Amino acid sequence: MSKKLKNLKFWIHTFGCQMNENDSERLVGLLRRAGAELSVSPESSDLVIINTCAVREKSEEKLYSLLGRMEALKKRKKLIIGVMGCVAQLHKSRLIEKKPSIDFIVGPDNYLDIPRILSESWPDKVISTRWSPHWHGFSPDDVSRKSPVSAYVTIMEGCNNFCSYCIVPFTRGQEKFRPLSRILEEVRYLASRGYKEIQLLGQNVNVYRDPEKGRGFIELLEAVNRVKGIEWIRFITSHPKNFSPAMAQVMKDSEHVCHQLHLPVQSGSSSILEAMNRGYTRDDYLDKIGFLRDLMPDISLSTDIIVGFPGETEEDYRQTADLLRQVRFTNIFSFCYSPRPLTAAAKKTDSVPFEVKGQRLMEIQRIQKDIQLEENTSMIGDVVKVLCLGRNKRDSRLYSGRNQGHQVVNFTSDSDVIKRFVDVRIVSCGPYL
Ligand code: 5AD
Ligand code: SF4
Repeated sequence: MSKKLKNLKFWIHTFGCQMNENDSERLVGLLRRAGAELSVSPESSDLVIINTCAVREKSEEKLYSLLGRMEALKKRKKLIIGVMGCVAQLHKSRLIEKKPSIDFIVGPDNYLDIPRILSESWPDKVISTRWSPHWHGFSPDDVSRKSPVSAYVTIMEGCNNFCSYCIVPFTRGQEKFRPLSRILEEVRYLASRGYKEIQLLGQNVNVYRDPEKGRGFIELLEAVNRVKGIEWIRFITSHPKNFSPAMAQVMKDSEHVCHQLHLPVQSGSSSILEAMNRGYTRDDYLDKIGFLRDLMPDISLSTDIIVGFPGETEEDYRQTADLLRQVRFTNIFSFCYSPRPLTAAAKKTDSVPFEVKGQRLMEIQRIQKDIQLEENTSMIGDVVKVLCLGRNKRDSRLYSGRNQGHQVVNFTSDSDVIKRFVDVRIVSCGPYL
Protein backbone atom coordinates (compact mmCIF):
# COMPACT_ATOMS: atom_id res chain seq x y z
CA MET A 1 0.00 0.00 0.00
CA SER A 2 1.35 3.40 -0.96
CA LYS A 3 2.07 5.64 2.00
CA LYS A 4 1.11 8.72 0.00
CA LEU A 5 -2.34 7.32 -0.73
CA LYS A 6 -3.08 6.03 2.75
CA ASN A 7 -5.99 8.05 4.20
CA LEU A 8 -6.04 10.34 1.15
CA LYS A 9 -9.64 11.44 0.72
CA PHE A 10 -10.94 11.64 -2.81
CA TRP A 11 -14.12 12.64 -4.62
CA ILE A 12 -15.02 11.69 -8.15
CA HIS A 13 -17.57 13.14 -10.55
CA THR A 14 -18.59 11.30 -13.69
CA PHE A 15 -20.07 12.81 -16.85
CA GLY A 16 -21.18 10.86 -19.92
CA CYS A 17 -22.04 7.31 -20.72
CA GLN A 18 -22.29 4.03 -18.81
CA MET A 19 -18.76 3.15 -19.86
CA ASN A 20 -17.49 6.24 -18.06
CA GLU A 21 -19.52 5.16 -15.02
CA ASN A 22 -17.90 1.74 -15.15
CA ASP A 23 -14.40 3.25 -15.57
CA SER A 24 -15.05 5.41 -12.49
CA GLU A 25 -16.19 2.35 -10.52
CA ARG A 26 -12.92 0.64 -11.38
CA LEU A 27 -10.87 3.67 -10.41
CA VAL A 28 -12.67 4.01 -7.08
CA GLY A 29 -11.92 0.32 -6.36
CA LEU A 30 -8.29 0.78 -7.28
CA LEU A 31 -7.78 3.88 -5.15
CA ARG A 32 -9.50 2.23 -2.20
CA ARG A 33 -7.26 -0.79 -2.55
CA ALA A 34 -4.28 1.60 -2.48
CA GLY A 35 -5.51 2.95 0.87
CA ALA A 36 -7.40 6.07 -0.22
CA GLU A 37 -10.90 6.82 1.03
CA LEU A 38 -13.95 7.87 -1.02
CA SER A 39 -15.36 11.11 0.34
CA VAL A 40 -18.83 12.66 0.11
CA SER A 41 -17.86 16.13 -1.16
CA PRO A 42 -14.99 18.00 -2.82
CA GLU A 43 -14.77 20.23 0.27
CA SER A 44 -13.83 17.26 2.44
CA SER A 45 -11.35 15.81 -0.10
CA ASP A 46 -7.63 16.03 -0.87
CA LEU A 47 -8.13 14.85 -4.42
CA VAL A 48 -10.87 15.54 -6.95
CA ILE A 49 -11.15 13.52 -10.16
CA ILE A 50 -13.48 14.52 -12.98
CA ASN A 51 -14.31 11.83 -15.52
CA THR A 52 -15.29 13.68 -18.69
CA CYS A 53 -17.38 13.29 -21.83
CA ALA A 54 -16.61 14.99 -25.15
CA VAL A 55 -19.53 13.77 -27.23
CA ARG A 56 -21.19 17.20 -27.50
CA GLU A 57 -19.88 20.70 -26.82
CA LYS A 58 -22.38 20.95 -23.95
CA SER A 59 -20.87 17.86 -22.28
CA GLU A 60 -17.48 19.56 -22.45
CA GLU A 61 -18.84 22.82 -21.03
CA LYS A 62 -20.05 20.96 -17.96
CA LEU A 63 -16.41 20.11 -17.22
CA TYR A 64 -15.35 23.77 -17.40
CA SER A 65 -18.10 24.84 -15.06
CA LEU A 66 -17.22 22.14 -12.50
CA LEU A 67 -13.52 23.00 -12.88
CA GLY A 68 -14.35 26.63 -12.08
CA ARG A 69 -15.82 25.52 -8.74
CA MET A 70 -12.82 23.29 -8.02
CA GLU A 71 -10.37 26.13 -8.84
CA ALA A 72 -12.13 28.37 -6.34
CA LEU A 73 -11.89 25.59 -3.74
CA LYS A 74 -8.19 25.06 -4.49
CA LYS A 75 -7.56 28.70 -3.53
CA ARG A 76 -8.91 27.93 -0.06
CA LYS A 77 -7.37 24.53 0.61
CA LYS A 78 -4.76 22.05 -0.59
CA LEU A 79 -6.34 20.09 -3.43
CA ILE A 80 -5.12 17.82 -6.23
CA ILE A 81 -7.27 18.08 -9.37
CA GLY A 82 -7.24 15.30 -11.96
CA VAL A 83 -9.16 15.14 -15.24
CA MET A 84 -9.73 11.78 -16.90
CA GLY A 85 -11.77 10.46 -19.81
CA CYS A 86 -12.68 11.69 -23.27
CA VAL A 87 -12.03 15.46 -22.90
CA ALA A 88 -8.64 14.66 -21.35
CA GLN A 89 -7.79 12.50 -24.36
CA LEU A 90 -9.03 15.11 -26.82
CA HIS A 91 -7.14 18.14 -25.48
CA LYS A 92 -4.19 16.55 -23.64
CA SER A 93 -1.68 19.20 -22.47
CA ARG A 94 -3.78 22.03 -23.96
CA LEU A 95 -6.22 21.43 -21.12
CA ILE A 96 -3.55 22.22 -18.51
CA GLU A 97 -2.45 25.29 -20.50
CA LYS A 98 -6.05 26.50 -20.43
CA LYS A 99 -6.72 25.45 -16.82
CA PRO A 100 -3.43 25.45 -14.86
CA SER A 101 -5.14 24.35 -11.67
CA ILE A 102 -5.31 20.81 -13.13
CA ASP A 103 -2.57 18.54 -11.76
CA PHE A 104 -2.92 15.52 -13.98
CA ILE A 105 -4.64 14.45 -17.19
CA VAL A 106 -5.34 10.81 -18.02
CA GLY A 107 -7.10 9.43 -21.09
CA PRO A 108 -9.78 6.70 -21.06
CA ASP A 109 -7.03 4.14 -21.61
CA ASN A 110 -4.76 5.39 -18.81
CA TYR A 111 -6.81 5.86 -15.67
CA LEU A 112 -5.35 2.72 -14.13
CA ASP A 113 -2.13 4.80 -13.92
CA ILE A 114 -3.70 7.20 -11.40
CA PRO A 115 -2.56 5.44 -8.19
CA ARG A 116 1.00 5.37 -9.56
CA ILE A 117 0.84 9.01 -10.68
CA LEU A 118 -0.31 10.03 -7.22
CA SER A 119 2.30 8.06 -5.33
CA GLU A 120 5.29 8.80 -7.58
CA SER A 121 4.89 12.02 -9.49
CA TRP A 122 2.68 14.49 -7.75
CA PRO A 123 3.20 17.55 -7.38
CA ASP A 124 4.65 17.43 -10.95
CA LYS A 125 2.02 17.85 -13.64
CA VAL A 126 1.45 14.54 -15.42
CA ILE A 127 -0.19 13.85 -18.77
CA SER A 128 -0.91 10.23 -19.62
CA THR A 129 -2.91 9.78 -22.81
CA ARG A 130 -1.15 7.02 -24.70
CA TRP A 131 -3.63 4.64 -26.34
CA SER A 132 -2.84 0.94 -26.11
CA PRO A 133 -4.13 -1.70 -28.57
CA HIS A 134 -4.34 -4.22 -25.70
CA TRP A 135 -7.11 -4.80 -23.23
CA HIS A 136 -6.02 -3.67 -19.76
CA GLY A 137 -6.80 -6.41 -17.27
CA PHE A 138 -8.29 -5.88 -13.84
CA SER A 139 -9.64 -8.14 -11.18
CA PRO A 140 -13.44 -8.18 -10.65
CA ASP A 141 -13.04 -7.45 -6.96
CA ASP A 142 -11.11 -4.26 -7.77
CA VAL A 143 -14.35 -2.66 -8.95
CA SER A 144 -16.23 -0.55 -6.43
CA ARG A 145 -19.76 -0.76 -7.81
CA LYS A 146 -22.47 1.76 -7.04
CA SER A 147 -25.29 -0.78 -7.19
CA PRO A 148 -25.42 -4.11 -5.32
CA VAL A 149 -28.08 -5.40 -7.76
CA SER A 150 -27.22 -4.40 -11.32
CA ALA A 151 -23.65 -4.32 -12.66
CA TYR A 152 -21.91 -2.97 -15.74
CA VAL A 153 -19.55 -5.35 -17.50
CA THR A 154 -17.42 -3.78 -20.24
CA ILE A 155 -16.87 -6.22 -23.15
CA MET A 156 -15.27 -3.98 -25.78
CA GLU A 157 -14.07 -0.46 -26.12
CA GLY A 158 -13.45 1.98 -28.94
CA CYS A 159 -14.99 2.33 -32.36
CA ASN A 160 -13.88 1.93 -35.98
CA ASN A 161 -17.01 3.33 -37.61
CA PHE A 162 -16.23 7.02 -37.96
CA CYS A 163 -19.80 8.27 -38.10
CA SER A 164 -19.19 11.73 -39.48
CA TYR A 165 -20.49 13.59 -36.39
CA CYS A 166 -18.82 11.43 -33.74
CA ILE A 167 -15.74 12.14 -31.69
CA VAL A 168 -15.54 8.71 -30.01
CA PRO A 169 -13.02 7.06 -32.41
CA PHE A 170 -10.68 9.96 -31.59
CA THR A 171 -11.10 9.71 -27.82
CA ARG A 172 -11.63 6.01 -27.13
CA GLY A 173 -9.52 4.86 -30.10
CA GLN A 174 -9.92 1.78 -32.25
CA GLU A 175 -12.05 -1.20 -31.24
CA LYS A 176 -10.51 -3.63 -28.79
CA PHE A 177 -12.17 -6.61 -27.20
CA ARG A 178 -12.00 -8.11 -23.76
CA PRO A 179 -11.35 -11.88 -23.73
CA LEU A 180 -14.54 -13.90 -23.22
CA SER A 181 -12.83 -15.89 -20.46
CA ARG A 182 -12.32 -12.63 -18.48
CA ILE A 183 -15.90 -11.49 -19.14
CA LEU A 184 -17.29 -14.79 -17.86
CA GLU A 185 -15.00 -14.66 -14.85
CA GLU A 186 -16.46 -11.27 -13.92
CA VAL A 187 -20.06 -12.34 -14.59
CA ARG A 188 -19.63 -15.46 -12.42
CA TYR A 189 -18.06 -13.34 -9.69
CA LEU A 190 -21.04 -10.95 -9.83
CA ALA A 191 -23.51 -13.85 -9.66
CA SER A 192 -21.69 -15.22 -6.59
CA ARG A 193 -22.05 -11.77 -4.96
CA GLY A 194 -25.82 -11.79 -5.50
CA TYR A 195 -26.05 -9.51 -8.57
CA LYS A 196 -29.25 -10.16 -10.49
CA GLU A 197 -28.71 -8.08 -13.61
CA ILE A 198 -25.75 -7.28 -15.82
CA GLN A 199 -25.41 -4.73 -18.57
CA LEU A 200 -22.77 -5.58 -21.15
CA LEU A 201 -21.08 -2.41 -22.37
CA GLY A 202 -19.28 -1.35 -25.52
CA GLN A 203 -19.47 1.39 -28.16
CA ASN A 204 -20.58 -1.26 -30.67
CA VAL A 205 -21.19 -4.57 -28.88
CA ASN A 206 -22.46 -6.36 -32.00
CA VAL A 207 -18.96 -6.55 -33.53
CA TYR A 208 -17.52 -8.28 -30.45
CA ARG A 209 -14.79 -10.82 -31.27
CA ASP A 210 -13.08 -12.82 -28.55
CA PRO A 211 -9.32 -12.19 -28.95
CA GLU A 212 -8.56 -15.68 -27.58
CA LYS A 213 -10.89 -17.99 -29.50
CA GLY A 214 -12.59 -15.75 -32.07
CA ARG A 215 -16.08 -16.18 -30.61
CA GLY A 216 -18.59 -13.51 -31.62
CA PHE A 217 -21.35 -11.58 -29.87
CA ILE A 218 -23.91 -14.36 -30.25
CA GLU A 219 -21.64 -16.90 -28.53
CA LEU A 220 -20.92 -14.33 -25.84
CA LEU A 221 -24.64 -13.84 -25.14
CA GLU A 222 -25.20 -17.59 -25.07
CA ALA A 223 -22.30 -18.10 -22.64
CA VAL A 224 -23.42 -15.29 -20.31
CA ASN A 225 -26.99 -16.64 -20.45
CA ARG A 226 -25.70 -19.93 -18.98
CA VAL A 227 -24.23 -18.28 -15.85
CA LYS A 228 -26.45 -19.34 -12.95
CA GLY A 229 -27.88 -16.54 -10.82
CA ILE A 230 -27.88 -13.72 -13.40
CA GLU A 231 -31.56 -13.28 -14.20
CA TRP A 232 -31.52 -10.31 -16.56
CA ILE A 233 -28.93 -9.55 -19.23
CA ARG A 234 -28.90 -6.31 -21.23
CA PHE A 235 -26.37 -4.86 -23.65
CA ILE A 236 -25.61 -1.42 -24.97
CA THR A 237 -24.86 -0.04 -27.60
CA SER A 238 -25.91 -1.87 -30.74
CA HIS A 239 -25.27 -0.47 -34.22
CA PRO A 240 -28.15 -1.00 -36.70
CA LYS A 241 -25.59 -1.82 -39.41
CA ASN A 242 -24.26 -4.76 -37.35
CA PHE A 243 -27.38 -5.95 -35.57
CA SER A 244 -28.41 -9.15 -37.38
CA PRO A 245 -31.54 -11.38 -37.43
CA ALA A 246 -29.39 -14.07 -35.76
CA MET A 247 -28.80 -11.69 -32.84
CA ALA A 248 -32.53 -11.10 -32.51
CA GLN A 249 -33.04 -14.88 -32.54
CA VAL A 250 -30.53 -15.41 -29.73
CA MET A 251 -32.26 -12.68 -27.71
CA LYS A 252 -35.51 -14.56 -28.10
CA ASP A 253 -34.00 -17.98 -27.37
CA SER A 254 -31.90 -17.00 -24.34
CA GLU A 255 -34.01 -17.17 -21.22
CA HIS A 256 -32.19 -14.39 -19.39
CA VAL A 257 -31.62 -11.85 -22.18
CA CYS A 258 -34.16 -9.05 -21.74
CA HIS A 259 -36.50 -8.22 -24.59
CA GLN A 260 -35.13 -4.72 -24.66
CA LEU A 261 -32.84 -3.07 -27.20
CA HIS A 262 -31.26 0.34 -27.63
CA LEU A 263 -30.79 0.80 -31.37
CA PRO A 264 -29.68 4.35 -32.22
CA VAL A 265 -31.18 5.46 -35.55
CA GLN A 266 -29.92 9.09 -35.42
CA SER A 267 -32.10 10.23 -38.36
CA GLY A 268 -35.14 9.03 -40.29
CA SER A 269 -33.82 10.38 -43.59
CA SER A 270 -31.70 8.10 -45.78
CA SER A 271 -29.77 11.00 -47.30
CA ILE A 272 -28.84 12.33 -43.85
CA LEU A 273 -27.92 8.79 -42.73
CA GLU A 274 -25.59 8.61 -45.72
CA ALA A 275 -24.03 11.97 -44.86
CA MET A 276 -23.59 10.66 -41.30
CA ASN A 277 -21.78 7.58 -42.71
CA ARG A 278 -24.11 5.27 -40.79
CA GLY A 279 -24.08 2.39 -43.28
CA TYR A 280 -27.86 1.80 -43.41
CA THR A 281 -30.95 3.43 -44.88
CA ARG A 282 -34.28 4.29 -43.28
CA ASP A 283 -35.76 1.13 -44.81
CA ASP A 284 -32.90 -1.05 -43.56
CA TYR A 285 -33.56 0.27 -40.07
CA LEU A 286 -37.31 -0.28 -40.29
CA ASP A 287 -36.68 -3.84 -41.56
CA LYS A 288 -34.66 -4.54 -38.42
CA ILE A 289 -37.42 -3.16 -36.22
CA GLY A 290 -39.82 -5.39 -38.19
CA PHE A 291 -37.97 -8.65 -37.57
CA LEU A 292 -37.36 -7.77 -33.92
CA ARG A 293 -41.08 -7.20 -33.36
CA ASP A 294 -42.04 -10.31 -35.33
CA LEU A 295 -39.81 -12.42 -33.08
CA MET A 296 -40.50 -10.58 -29.81
CA PRO A 297 -43.83 -8.70 -29.90
CA ASP A 298 -43.17 -7.52 -26.32
CA ILE A 299 -39.75 -5.98 -27.09
CA SER A 300 -39.04 -2.54 -25.69
CA LEU A 301 -37.06 -0.36 -28.11
CA SER A 302 -35.20 2.87 -27.52
CA THR A 303 -33.10 5.08 -29.76
CA ASP A 304 -30.90 8.17 -30.15
CA ILE A 305 -31.83 11.06 -32.45
CA ILE A 306 -29.73 13.96 -33.71
CA VAL A 307 -31.60 16.94 -35.20
CA GLY A 308 -30.01 19.71 -37.25
CA PHE A 309 -27.19 17.73 -38.84
CA PRO A 310 -25.51 19.86 -41.60
CA GLY A 311 -27.82 19.96 -44.64
CA GLU A 312 -30.88 18.60 -42.79
CA THR A 313 -33.91 20.02 -44.63
CA GLU A 314 -37.43 20.38 -43.27
CA GLU A 315 -38.31 17.26 -45.26
CA ASP A 316 -35.40 15.27 -43.76
CA TYR A 317 -36.51 16.34 -40.31
CA ARG A 318 -40.17 15.37 -41.08
CA GLN A 319 -38.93 11.88 -41.92
CA THR A 320 -37.33 11.59 -38.48
CA ALA A 321 -40.54 12.72 -36.79
CA ASP A 322 -42.47 10.28 -38.96
CA LEU A 323 -40.15 7.40 -38.03
CA LEU A 324 -40.80 8.08 -34.35
CA ARG A 325 -44.57 7.92 -34.95
CA GLN A 326 -44.12 4.71 -36.91
CA VAL A 327 -41.85 2.83 -34.50
CA ARG A 328 -43.28 4.13 -31.23
CA PHE A 329 -40.14 3.72 -29.12
CA THR A 330 -40.39 3.16 -25.38
CA ASN A 331 -37.85 5.90 -24.88
CA ILE A 332 -35.56 8.18 -26.91
CA PHE A 333 -32.49 10.32 -26.26
CA SER A 334 -32.52 13.33 -28.56
CA PHE A 335 -29.88 15.97 -29.21
CA CYS A 336 -29.15 19.03 -31.34
CA TYR A 337 -26.21 18.42 -33.64
CA SER A 338 -23.01 19.79 -32.16
CA PRO A 339 -19.89 20.09 -34.37
CA ARG A 340 -16.96 18.25 -32.77
CA PRO A 341 -13.25 18.71 -33.48
CA LEU A 342 -11.50 16.17 -35.76
CA THR A 343 -14.79 14.78 -37.14
CA ALA A 344 -15.67 14.78 -40.86
CA ALA A 345 -18.93 16.69 -40.32
CA ALA A 346 -17.09 19.53 -38.55
CA LYS A 347 -15.59 20.44 -41.95
CA LYS A 348 -19.11 21.06 -43.32
CA THR A 349 -21.03 24.26 -42.65
CA ASP A 350 -23.20 23.91 -39.57
CA SER A 351 -26.07 25.00 -41.80
CA VAL A 352 -29.19 24.54 -39.66
CA PRO A 353 -29.71 27.71 -37.57
CA PHE A 354 -29.55 27.36 -33.81
CA GLU A 355 -33.24 28.32 -33.38
CA VAL A 356 -34.37 25.79 -36.00
CA LYS A 357 -32.40 23.01 -34.28
CA GLY A 358 -34.03 23.99 -30.99
CA GLN A 359 -37.54 23.97 -32.50
CA ARG A 360 -36.97 20.58 -34.10
CA LEU A 361 -35.67 19.15 -30.87
CA MET A 362 -38.65 20.46 -28.91
CA GLU A 363 -41.10 19.08 -31.43
CA ILE A 364 -39.38 15.66 -31.47
CA GLN A 365 -39.55 15.53 -27.69
CA ARG A 366 -43.21 16.56 -27.65
CA ILE A 367 -44.15 13.88 -30.21
CA GLN A 368 -42.29 11.25 -28.21
CA LYS A 369 -43.77 12.39 -24.91
CA ASP A 370 -47.29 11.89 -26.29
CA ILE A 371 -46.37 8.42 -27.57
CA GLN A 372 -44.90 7.43 -24.22
CA LEU A 373 -47.89 8.71 -22.30
CA GLU A 374 -50.22 6.68 -24.53
CA GLU A 375 -48.11 3.54 -24.30
CA ASN A 376 -47.61 3.83 -20.55
CA THR A 377 -51.29 4.55 -19.89
CA SER A 378 -52.15 1.33 -21.70
CA MET A 379 -50.16 -0.52 -19.01
CA ILE A 380 -52.38 0.68 -16.16
CA GLY A 381 -53.91 -2.37 -14.45
CA ASP A 382 -51.14 -4.70 -15.69
CA VAL A 383 -48.95 -6.60 -13.27
CA VAL A 384 -45.30 -6.26 -14.29
CA LYS A 385 -42.17 -8.01 -13.06
CA VAL A 386 -39.80 -5.46 -11.53
CA LEU A 387 -36.24 -5.85 -10.27
CA CYS A 388 -36.04 -3.74 -7.13
CA LEU A 389 -32.85 -1.66 -7.26
CA GLY A 390 -33.28 0.27 -4.00
CA ARG A 391 -35.27 3.00 -2.31
CA ASN A 392 -36.60 5.88 -4.36
CA LYS A 393 -34.01 8.67 -3.99
CA ARG A 394 -36.60 11.44 -3.51
CA ASP A 395 -39.15 9.57 -1.41
CA SER A 396 -37.68 6.89 0.84
CA ARG A 397 -41.14 5.40 1.55
CA LEU A 398 -41.10 4.15 -2.04
CA TYR A 399 -39.03 1.41 -3.62
CA SER A 400 -37.67 1.88 -7.12
CA GLY A 401 -36.84 -0.66 -9.79
CA ARG A 402 -37.02 -1.38 -13.48
CA ASN A 403 -39.16 -3.68 -15.56
CA GLN A 404 -37.80 -5.89 -18.32
CA GLY A 405 -38.25 -2.99 -20.78
CA HIS A 406 -35.87 -0.93 -18.59
CA GLN A 407 -38.60 1.50 -17.50
CA VAL A 408 -38.46 2.91 -13.98
CA VAL A 409 -41.27 1.65 -11.69
CA ASN A 410 -41.81 3.15 -8.20
CA PHE A 411 -43.87 1.13 -5.75
CA THR A 412 -44.67 0.42 -2.11
CA SER A 413 -44.05 -2.82 -0.26
CA ASP A 414 -44.51 -3.97 3.34
CA SER A 415 -41.30 -6.00 3.32
CA ASP A 416 -37.76 -5.18 2.20
CA VAL A 417 -37.58 -6.27 -1.45
CA ILE A 418 -34.26 -4.72 -2.50
CA LYS A 419 -32.37 -7.09 -4.87
CA ARG A 420 -35.58 -9.10 -5.39
CA PHE A 421 -37.96 -9.52 -8.31
CA VAL A 422 -41.46 -8.36 -7.44
CA ASP A 423 -44.80 -8.32 -9.24
CA VAL A 424 -46.08 -4.76 -9.28
CA ARG A 425 -49.54 -3.62 -10.35
CA ILE A 426 -49.36 -0.38 -12.35
CA VAL A 427 -51.89 2.08 -10.94
CA SER A 428 -50.73 5.37 -12.48
CA CYS A 429 -48.10 6.60 -14.89
CA GLY A 430 -46.46 9.59 -16.49
CA PRO A 431 -44.74 9.86 -19.87
CA TYR A 432 -41.48 8.75 -18.28
CA LEU A 433 -42.74 5.71 -16.32
N1 5AD B 1 -23.82 16.09 -31.82
C1 5AD B 1 -24.98 15.71 -31.23
N2 5AD B 1 -25.21 14.49 -30.75
C2 5AD B 1 -24.20 13.59 -30.87
N3 5AD B 1 -24.13 12.30 -30.49
C3 5AD B 1 -22.90 11.84 -30.81
N4 5AD B 1 -22.18 12.80 -31.40
C4 5AD B 1 -22.97 13.91 -31.45
C5 5AD B 1 -22.79 15.22 -31.94
N5 5AD B 1 -21.65 15.61 -32.53
C6 5AD B 1 -25.24 11.56 -29.90
C7 5AD B 1 -25.64 10.37 -30.76
C8 5AD B 1 -25.09 9.20 -30.00
C9 5AD B 1 -25.26 9.68 -28.58
C10 5AD B 1 -24.43 8.95 -27.57
O1 5AD B 1 -24.85 11.03 -28.64
O2 5AD B 1 -27.05 10.34 -30.85
O3 5AD B 1 -25.80 8.01 -30.26
FE1 SF4 C 1 -18.92 10.59 -23.91
FE2 SF4 C 1 -18.60 8.89 -25.87
FE3 SF4 C 1 -16.59 9.26 -24.24
FE4 SF4 C 1 -18.80 7.96 -23.39
S1 SF4 C 1 -17.33 7.32 -24.97
S2 SF4 C 1 -17.73 9.55 -22.34
S3 SF4 C 1 -20.41 9.10 -24.55
S4 SF4 C 1 -17.49 10.77 -25.64
